[in-house]
Amino acid sequence: MADSSHGPASFWTQADALLRKNLTYQKRNIKTNIRLISFPFILCLLLVLIQALVNNELDKPKNKCGCRTFDQNGDGREEKVCGLEYSDLDQGSYCAIDSPPEWPPLLQVPAQVYRAVASDVMPFADLPNESCRRTGSCPVTLLFTGNNHTLGDIMVENMFTSSANSSDVLVGIARNVSGSHSMPEYTNFLDPAFYSGLPLYNLQRQCTQNSTYSVSVPVMTFERQQEIICVEGVPLWRNSSADVNNELYKGYRKGNTERKINEILAAYDFLNTNANNFNVSVWYNSTFKNDTGNQAIALLRVPRSVNLASNAYLQFLKGPGTKIQFDFVKEMPKAQSSLKLDFSSLLGTLFFTWVVIQLFPVVLTSLVYEKQQRLRIMMKMHGLGDGPYWLISYAYFLVVSMIYMLCFVIFGSVVGLKFFTLNDYSIQFVFYFIYINLQISLAFLAAAMFFNVKTATVVGYICVFGTGLLGGFLFQFFVEDTSFPRAWIIVMELYPGFALYRGLYEFAQYSYNGNYLGTDGMRWKNLSDGENGMKDVFIIMVVEWLLVLFVAYYVDKIASSGKRPLFFLQSLRKKKGSSFKVPSLRKQGSLKVTVEMDKLDVVQEREKVEQIILEQDKQNAIVCDNLRKVYPGRDGNPDKLAVKGLSLALPRGECFGMLGPNGAGKTSFINMMIGLTKPSSGTAYVQDLDIQTHMEEIYTSMGAVEESLKSVNLFNGGVADKQAGKYSGGMKRRLSVAISLIGDPKVVYMDEPSTGLDPASRNSLWNVMKKAKKERAIILTTHSMEEAEVLCDRLGIFVDGGLQCIGNPKELKARYGGSYVFTMTTSSTHEQEVETLVRRLSPNASKIYHLSGTQKFELPKHEVRIADVFQSVQTAKSRFTVFAWGLADTTLEDVFIKVARGAQAFNVLS
Ligand SMILES: *[C@@H]1O[C@H](CO)[C@@H](O)[C@H](O)[C@H]1NC(C)=O
Ligand SMILES: *[C@@H]1O[C@H](CO)[C@@H](O)[C@H](O)[C@H]1NC(C)=O
Ligand SMILES: *[C@@H]1O[C@H](CO)[C@@H](O)[C@H](O)[C@H]1NC(C)=O
Ligand SMILES: *[C@@H]1O[C@H](CO)[C@@H](O)[C@H](O)[C@H]1NC(C)=O
Ligand SMILES: *[C@@H]1O[C@H](CO)[C@@H](O)[C@H](O)[C@H]1NC(C)=O
Ligand SMILES: *[C@@H]1O[C@H](CO)[C@@H](O)[C@H](O)[C@H]1NC(C)=O
Repeated sequence: MADSSHGPASFWTQADALLRKNLTYQKRNIKTNIRLISFPFILCLLLVLIQALVNNELDKPKNKCGCRTFDQNGDGREEKVCGLEYSDLDQGSYCAIDSPPEWPPLLQVPAQVYRAVASDVMPFADLPNESCRRTGSCPVTLLFTGNNHTLGDIMVENMFTSSANSSDVLVGIARNVSGSHSMPEYTNFLDPAFYSGLPLYNLQRQCTQNSTYSVSVPVMTFERQQEIICVEGVPLWRNSSADVNNELYKGYRKGNTERKINEILAAYDFLNTNANNFNVSVWYNSTFKNDTGNQAIALLRVPRSVNLASNAYLQFLKGPGTKIQFDFVKEMPKAQSSLKLDFSSLLGTLFFTWVVIQLFPVVLTSLVYEKQQRLRIMMKMHGLGDGPYWLISYAYFLVVSMIYMLCFVIFGSVVGLKFFTLNDYSIQFVFYFIYINLQISLAFLAAAMFFNVKTATVVGYICVFGTGLLGGFLFQFFVEDTSFPRAWIIVMELYPGFALYRGLYEFAQYSYNGNYLGTDGMRWKNLSDGENGMKDVFIIMVVEWLLVLFVAYYVDKIASSGKRPLFFLQSLRKKKGSSFKVPSLRKQGSLKVTVEMDKLDVVQEREKVEQIILEQDKQNAIVCDNLRKVYPGRDGNPDKLAVKGLSLALPRGECFGMLGPNGAGKTSFINMMIGLTKPSSGTAYVQDLDIQTHMEEIYTSMGAVEESLKSVNLFNGGVADKQAGKYSGGMKRRLSVAISLIGDPKVVYMDEPSTGLDPASRNSLWNVMKKAKKERAIILTTHSMEEAEVLCDRLGIFVDGGLQCIGNPKELKARYGGSYVFTMTTSSTHEQEVETLVRRLSPNASKIYHLSGTQKFELPKHEVRIADVFQSVQTAKSRFTVFAWGLADTTLEDVFIKVARGAQAFNVLS
């Protein structure tokens, strides 16, 4: 919009026009919009419903601390009291526990059937014999290694003290080396070994008689009978920690039935331990606890194995009398809890990905629609610059998307979805804001690749559902698999759909945990949490947004202006503004020269154009210099020459009529002139500006811009739009012609303006155009000879991509139609007499039409006088019956048909 001679429309005018256009478009698609907006609401309501059902289920007594209603104080009033004492074992874990029970620390002992035994796959012969598995008497193996074997032996012997007895049952269990093969649980205010019903093991170096007995153990509020079995512990020396690893690995159970299962109590590496230094590492089994993701549980039965080693070392230093007692473990007190599951967090990630991403096809189709309907180029012709178009469209979509997201978040919060209420709103705002920007930029970029709204819609929605499903059923597994390299997650998140999914996933994680633990969701400080991927997502999205925006603008610039990819480098080198290029000497084949000799007027026009270009004459509004358009052939067909080397000069104030049959190339020509297609070679200058390079300035010069845009408002604005829709075809046509003339454009193109109008409308249209003709160059294509004759100063007949003749209507008529047409209808018996009559009038007359008594002749004007014709007809009437006769001057129509036929005949010959 650098051309200052034609003031560009003010930014606000452009914004206003564009906004009205967009609103109209949205209003037309009101049904789609309603569907679009209702989607998130329905999803939110669905989540609320599911949540209500889940809550109803969770509310059942078995998921809560047990309660009882009774008269507690004896004052006659019944009260509901909840607590451990009114709960069964399932309910106990939900109760408030102000003074947690304590229990003796246990070891994780392998179950009987899994205990290590000697076998062919094991390289060690010192393991217990396999037969013990049948008798159920397998000992428990303990491996040890270190730098000093002697010391190691002393240590393991010290580990198994002789059986101790105490009056307190729990202390007794604690003083012995006790263990269990029950599994620890997720919530445990008490080791499950004490209520699982499985036996406790008492590990001894050597079991004596009576080694199995039963004691009564207090659990919570009641006593439980607990079986205690003595199990022999067998410590085995291994030469290195590598051997230990190897043996543990070989005995590993998980999912392997081929291999012999050989589980081991624990293994100790005493390293460089000596009298001055205690250094030990302990192998313990935590395999199955890892799956819950809670490491606190994994450690539940580890402390006792460490205590065993420390105790053994102390006895090695100080003798058997000294002991480090490890009597009890207990959890911290906890408040009453209940089972909580937040479904908006569980399902939200997938659902909300769809909700957010479904804006993508909306923006995309709206942009492609503009392209498909050529609205964009129309707006450009009316003075809308690229910059304002981008700025305004972008801002528009941003505002629409933000309103949509705002409604979504507000609605979600109002119906109480934890996903929204628990996470910090400012993080949510920043996240959605960045993502929406990225998405709009992407839509702009993608719009460059589509030409058809239907394709864009289909692809857009495939993206929506594909992203959601892939995110939920593929990407999420990678995110949750901690062993999957983080770098690859980042790479996957480069796909914006996955970045969105990840962000929502993090929100869901925090709100889920926050709801479960009764704390907050994500806060800004959580961004630095190790497992929180939100920070990466922010960085990725911001960088991508800027990048995509730039690329999209660039691609759009190329696509809309037809410039070469590195256009900005060229524009640096090229001087601003344009002047005519001096044409290089054109070589023409000799055949072509002879052909053109036939059409002197066309050749003259070509010379005139060359002259104009040489002299840099700036008097002409339009100069076409050897303009060519070739459509490449498809499916083996030859290339199609739509316009072959058109040269034409139009001074200001001239109306040039372009006549020609369908398919002659008129529309191709107009399309090149208004920038819809690019010429294959040659160029044209409009107001001295080259259409190849300065189309944008030409658009500005095609009309004064302010009024023009306002007139477009007339088309697109709310109320006026409806009215335009109600107009009849003729009214619309007049309106559009009037609009094209508003604002005093210097150059006007009209493609068959009056086709399909009734004669009255046509006449009023012509009157408008006749008035408008002054001061402007008008190029008019038409099929109507009458119209061409009335409106145009010069005519060109355009056949098969080339001008066949050019001149003002009278000239053409004289040149191609220097004759009268004489028609006479008689009975067929008198045909010969009519012909004799005509020959007498004009010896060179030629018969052009003959059908059962009706004959048409062409009489050269210079041979006949009209009076003679009347005379002859009078005489003839007296001799035979003449049904009808007529004499007519040549019409432009005749010229047209003659020229067109001649040209086509020539083309067939050549
Ligand atoms: C191994 O430990 C024993 C017992 O403390 C000690 O007597 C012996 O010297 C140690 N051997 C080595 C090589 O350090
Ligand atoms: C320990 O006490 C229990 C019950 O009091 C008794 O049955 C058992 O024999 C005692 N064990 C030893 C080794 O004294
Ligand atoms: C461990 O070392 C001893 C002595 O060096 C050797 O006899 C024995 O074969 C070794 N055991 C294994 C399993 O390598
Ligand atoms: C650890 O415990 C699990 C579950 O009981 C078992 O499958 C696995 O084999 C054990 N691993 C070893 C080395 O004993
Ligand atoms: C304990 O053993 C480890 C492994 O051999 C060694 O790196 C470390 O220095 C030792 N610590 C002490 C205090 O000797
Ligand atoms: C399992 O637990 C160990 C020890 O706490 C930890 O290092 C490891 O990362 C955990 N593995 C998984 C898959 O969570």
